[in-house]
Amino acid sequence: MNNQEKIKQLIDLRVEAKLGGGEKRIEAQHAKGKFTARERIAMLLDEGSFEEYDMFVKHRCDNFGMEKTKFMGDGVVTGQGTIDGRVVYVYAQDFTVFGGSLSETYAQKICKVMDMAMKVGAPIIGINDSGGARIQEGVTALAGYAEIFERNIMASGVVPQISAIFGPCAGGAVYSPALTDFIIMSKNTSYMFVTGPKVVKTVTNEIVTDEQLGGASVHGSKSGVTHFVAEDEEEGILLIRKMLSYMPQNNLEDAPLVPCDDPIDRLEDSLNEIIPDNPNKPYDVKDVIHAIVDNNEFLEIHRNYAQNIVVGFARFNGASVGIVANQPNYLAGVLDINASRKAARFVRFCDAFNIPLVTLVDVPGFLPGTAQEYGGIIMHGAKLLFAYGEATVPKVTVILRKSYGGAYCVMSSKHLRGDINYSWPTGEIAVMGPKGAIEVLKGKKIAEFTDENERNEYIAKAEEDYKEKFANPYKAAEYGYIDDVIEPRNTRFRIIRALQALATKKDVMPPKKHTNIPL
Ligand code: HXC
Repeated sequence: MNNQEKIKQLIDLRVEAKLGGGEKRIEAQHAKGKFTARERIAMLLDEGSFEEYDMFVKHRCDNFGMEKTKFMGDGVVTGQGTIDGRVVYVYAQDFTVFGGSLSETYAQKICKVMDMAMKVGAPIIGINDSGGARIQEGVTALAGYAEIFERNIMASGVVPQISAIFGPCAGGAVYSPALTDFIIMSKNTSYMFVTGPKVVKTVTNEIVTDEQLGGASVHGSKSGVTHFVAEDEEEGILLIRKMLSYMPQNNLEDAPLVPCDDPIDRLEDSLNEIIPDNPNKPYDVKDVIHAIVDNNEFLEIHRNYAQNIVVGFARFNGASVGIVANQPNYLAGVLDINASRKAARFVRFCDAFNIPLVTLVDVPGFLPGTAQEYGGIIMHGAKLLFAYGEATVPKVTVILRKSYGGAYCVMSSKHLRGDINYSWPTGEIAVMGPKGAIEVLKGKKIAEFTDENERNEYIAKAEEDYKEKFANPYKAAEYGYIDDVIEPRNTRFRIIRALQALATKKDVMPPKKHTNIPL
């Protein structure tokens, strides 16, 4: 072969590799409404930035006649590219090759890009679409998964890790995405479960479809396994790009500062009106969030899961923040098991990646009842408490209305190393709400009334007295637990000034191997 022929051979091999499992299987993939691995990578990365590695890798299996069927790249496309000019490492499982199933060499390809991402300090993005462990390979495929899991764990808190699920993701394979920071599932074309419908039927007699068992809407609303449900793959990919724009490349850097043309001292008059006079009336805390952040832009995470707490990314004067807000519009913004878990995980992500936390508080307390107690609200509520208490990033808190009981302590209070704690004049900071407090304090006296009108009058008066005394922010301000009581319409400016002052904040944890968060 002369040199020209050698170059032609290379070009031909590349063409062959790019076809994955062949045109027929690519057509089948498209017919299912799915893109191929390479198409997904092309959409994800800046145009022309993809550097592919290991295109020539083939599997080494010779069981079940596998030695006769080899595809270049072996079912996963791996490499490096840029998103908004910043380096990322990426792998995309190629369903057209043995159903995207994972072999020993395939796992080695993924491990290689993960190792490089760690050396370079760049995010890792995995696009999943796979039938799981390659059955013909047996234990070497299982070992491959475990090698990936270990790298997910080592990368956790060092570089951001994002998983997109754009097809099947079943069995132990689900645990790699589960170990990463964020999961995005595409509607109708993806599912995740540890055991599929057939096994479920054999073991429990339940009859369920893939979608009912592990579709995107189930994991987006019931289990909370996925952070985002995308209408389609294109939306999912745009979400990954957007999410990364709020994150640093690694735990030693800050998130990129974006030029901000939204005036920092923009007064938002609507906020002076947003809290209803009736304390039992809800309002949408997302209106508050949109009103105060740069350009009203808020990237909500877990939108349909534990809606009593809202979490997501936004910017103040161009700098990324994580926002955590109780949502009075849903279950009165009460803290329950799912809300505590959701917010705790988000707080820890932000803390790991130097993203300051802004907390908006309107919480009546923890949800009472056997379902919550039997489900371990003590342990799960403690997660959020723990997450806030250990977080060393700048923490700015604004109490909008209710801040009662243990929930006062939990929601980034001064006592958990909250840096700047503000309250609106509508703040109500007390051990419990007026109704409960009067029942406890005056229960015996109330029981003595025989006339119902007199009893109600007494209760109303007692509640009014209690409200006067406790349902305001000034008692807490008297002790310095609240740094200032601020006018609602000026909230944006006050938060920005607080964050600017805290930009150089240094806080540390005492030396230890690791914490023991109540898991
Ligand atoms: C080898 C596989 C495969 C696998 C699919 N294929 N899964 N090859 N190992 N795990 C191959 C098929 O033989 C077929 O090859 C091609 O991929 C496409 O598969 P189809 O079945 O035709 O596609 P579809 O009808 O879309 O069904 C997709 C599927 C189904 C639902 C994923 O293939 C399936 O149920 N696969 C097995 C899933 C599974 O049980 N995996 C093991 C899970 S346990 P041809 O040549 O015809 O194109 C596991 C443990 C991980 O993964 C443990 C980690 C610790």
